[in-house]
Amino acid sequence: MIDEDKIFVFDDSEGMADFTVARWNEISSQAIVDKGYFSAVLSGGKTPVAFYKRLAASKDIISWHRTHLFLADERFVPPSDSESNYGLIKEHLLSHVKIPDENVHRIQTEGITLEQSARRYEEDIRRFFRIDGCSVPQFDLIMLGVGEDGHTASLFPGKSSLSEGTRLAIPVIAEKPPGERITITLAVINNASKIIFLVSGRNKARVLKEIIEDKKGGLPASRVHPKQGMVYFMIDQPAASLLSGRKMAQ
Ligand code: 6PG
Repeated sequence: MIDEDKIFVFDDSEGMADFTVARWNEISSQAIVDKGYFSAVLSGGKTPVAFYKRLAASKDIISWHRTHLFLADERFVPPSDSESNYGLIKEHLLSHVKIPDENVHRIQTEGITLEQSARRYEEDIRRFFRIDGCSVPQFDLIMLGVGEDGHTASLFPGKSSLSEGTRLAIPVIAEKPPGERITITLAVINNASKIIFLVSGRNKARVLKEIIEDKKGGLPASRVHPKQGMVYFMIDQPAASLLSGRKMAQ
């Protein structure tokens, strides 16, 4: 059972996006005060689009030059493909803010194999955090979604990728198309300072109840328990409709 204080339910996607932008600003400001930079991991899918748009339009002062963005997962397609997570984030966020190109750590998918892509992404993460092959980075914030089957990032139920304990990024073959993907591992996710799940839609209600209220904990999203960090669930009413206890954030 997840502490209900970390579960926020919203009437609509705009309210959810605005609240999440405010949390983003708090977390990034604190990280920049503490260390001089903010490292965040973004996800693809439809749900975060409203958040990306609101973040891009935010009137708050955001230190984009001190912000470094990574991806939780990527579909193995060119960046111009409509299925590209980088392409989606670029369209709704990156093209609208003044973030230096070198602060955007996308997962290369062109002219490279799936395995090479995962290895190169891991090298990029290690270089940024200046860590060796034995250490796991601590991102300030990882933003995740949840699939109807309980997947998160591109970690799917019942797959060996869930038990990867050493690598930071791995290639996976997913049942959900496009099948070839690269994903960060649970080792990285569970070392983050903060995790925000964004979940919307009635089709997520059943799986969300299982993740939040059941104790079985076998689904990929149920295995997100950062060792020293916090998990926030931002949920719209339809996705929250089967939860027994609800806490409104507004
Ligand atoms: C991806 C994602 C994935 C996503 C969930 C939810 O590339 O597919 O990163 O983990 O977050 O599938 O997606 P929706 O928001 O579209 O429901």
